[in-house]
Amino acid sequence: MLMNKFPKDFVWGTATSSYQIEGASDLDGKGPSIWDAFCSIPGKINNNETGDIACDHYHKFKEDIQLMKEMGVKAYRFSIAWSRIMPTGKGAVNEKGIQFYSELIDELLKADIVPWVTLYHWDLPLALQMENDGWLNKDITDYFKEYADICFDRFGDRVKNWITLNEPWVVSILGYGQGVFAPGRVSNSEPYLAGHHLILSHAKAVKLYREKYTHQKGEIGISNNCDWREPLTDSKEDKDAAERALEFFIAWFADPIYKGDYPKVMKERLKERLPSFSKEEKELITGTSDFFGLNHYTTMFAANSDGIKKEVAVNGNGGISEDQDVDLSVDKDWKVTLMDWAVVPWGCKKLLKWIDKRYNKPNIYITENGCAYPDKLIDGKIDDQERLDFYQGYLIACQEAIQDGVNLKGYFAWSFMDNFEWALGYEQRFGLHYVDFKTLERIPKKSAHWFKKAIKNDSAEVSL
Ligand code: GAL
Repeated sequence: MLMNKFPKDFVWGTATSSYQIEGASDLDGKGPSIWDAFCSIPGKINNNETGDIACDHYHKFKEDIQLMKEMGVKAYRFSIAWSRIMPTGKGAVNEKGIQFYSELIDELLKADIVPWVTLYHWDLPLALQMENDGWLNKDITDYFKEYADICFDRFGDRVKNWITLNEPWVVSILGYGQGVFAPGRVSNSEPYLAGHHLILSHAKAVKLYREKYTHQKGEIGISNNCDWREPLTDSKEDKDAAERALEFFIAWFADPIYKGDYPKVMKERLKERLPSFSKEEKELITGTSDFFGLNHYTTMFAANSDGIKKEVAVNGNGGISEDQDVDLSVDKDWKVTLMDWAVVPWGCKKLLKWIDKRYNKPNIYITENGCAYPDKLIDGKIDDQERLDFYQGYLIACQEAIQDGVNLKGYFAWSFMDNFEWALGYEQRFGLHYVDFKTLERIPKKSAHWFKKAIKNDSAEVSL
């Protein structure tokens, strides 16, 4: 059988984040983060679970890197816990924290795995939230820059791939709009203010990296999340609604970075709730991503809303819907994951092409894609055929996008192992490796074996 091959230099990777896997939440000088605090509030997290121990990656990172090596991944995306290296978010540096990430990076390089480091994956130092109002206060742009400076300085000799922020949309909407993620605030204006400061923080860190660390010769970007929005019907109203939904989702953050300002539709609809950038800020922000980092999980239909609130979206994920006048829905026949997210590989291809067109053919890396299922350990094995089908479907969609001319350069599976899935706790297993949360043993799932073969063959069209 003739196989469609990914380009030889395609980056095959897997991803995690600090709070979801590290544990050691108060060890070796680490300061508390907003997620430590949020988890301590009864009722916020499924079964009142926490990331206190998580996968104990802090102590087991060498074992984990061996498992990655075994899979043949070329890159590993992880995040740094800001409060592990700066316990209060500013000022003093915790050398033990630096040492942990330094050893992790060395161990990866020894295993021939390229580190991709995210500076911020949601675990803001608690002190910055309590003393400075977190992302609502513009001062954070300088604190973030100071923190980034330390990371570039201490790790940049070995790390050449940086991601400033993970999913500012989630930080803003789920953390400051719906209040279901830390810091748990509910508002219809704070998300846009938080988002504004996230963008400026990103831009300041990138400027610093490009000016002060040119000699390190690395690349820097941001990872934004977006689902695909398919017009429910062929009507102009629904087509516009789908476009609007995408603009309120990914263009909110990508337009300033690629075009220097927010989408027109957001400005028109949000009026003074959307802060504006000064001329200097627009210059600062424009062009601050060497690549387009995309986290993508699912697809929904979008229809123009007639203003009547409907029971539509399972697991909405649509942002502040009143601001958009978009009704979301899914096809009953689509398969869904345990998160209730529909499995729609063609949506991934369409989104890649949409980004390719709107942002003028950037190099794209899918920095997250994956799915949760209720995996069970039976006779020492995990038969997660559904996940394997998911990966195969989405990677074939990626191959098709490449054939259509999209500059997709890499793909990171979320996640390397089962971990703490935020407000949903440990029930949602996203990993290529199963984690027994009592013994902390790791076991490769069937999909991990498949992924290994796919990497080896540079193709998604392999069977086990
Ligand atoms: C992303 C997030 C990850 C992971 C994933 C699955 O939004 O960056 O941390 O939780 O979703 O829900």
